[in-house]
Amino acid sequence: MRLQRTVVVGAASRHGGTCEIADRLADTLSRGLPAGWNVIRTDLSDLRDLDDVDAVVLGSAIYFSHWMHSAGRALQHVKDAPLLDLWLFSTGPISDVESEDAQVLSADAMVASGQAVEHRVFGGRLDTTHLSWVERMAVRVAHALPGDHRDWDQVDAWALHIRDQLAAVPDPATR
Ligand SMILES: Cc1cc2nc3c(=O)[nH]c(=O)nc-3n(C[C@H](O)[C@H](O)[C@H](O)COP(=O)(O)O)c2cc1C
Repeated sequence: MRLQRTVVVGAASRHGGTCEIADRLADTLSRGLPAGWNVIRTDLSDLRDLDDVDAVVLGSAIYFSHWMHSAGRALQHVKDAPLLDLWLFSTGPISDVESEDAQVLSADAMVASGQAVEHRVFGGRLDTTHLSWVERMAVRVAHALPGDHRDWDQVDAWALHIRDQLAAVPDPATR
């Protein structure tokens, strides 16, 4: 009998840019993983989506140096789950200034301690027409560059990298 294995892709996003990255990751994984793998895309509103799965790809937009609340909550939920492969990504950089974001540093620390497999930082998207007055002030202070800084080749390459690693995990039914 062949057991079904599941990878969940979840992301927190305020203005949609990070959601589109998660959609792309989930889509590439769905098309690339071998039979027996199931890909679920979650908006993180129901943490039960993350229970009893084999792998989680979890990401968030960074706002004021931190992940969004729903992603932080999801991270707490999964980080001590046994036998789970955890992949993390952050979107944010909208300027060339070297990032010292607190969440980026703590996600990197999770990789260093073996709690997560990898953490990637992708360029973000900044459309100033959708921002509140406070947000506009904040990005002005940060010298942020408006525009779409997402690199889809990088996103696709990471999805294929995850696919290769998941596909290499032996099927529990044949171990
Ligand atoms: C008010 C505001 C604060 C931000 N703060 C940070 C930050 O601290 N670090 C960072 O790398 N990016 C920061 N960003 C950039 C966002 O993370 C980036 O625009 C991201 O792509 C937004 O994702 P979303 O469309 O999924 O909400 C900020 C953007 C705004 C509008």
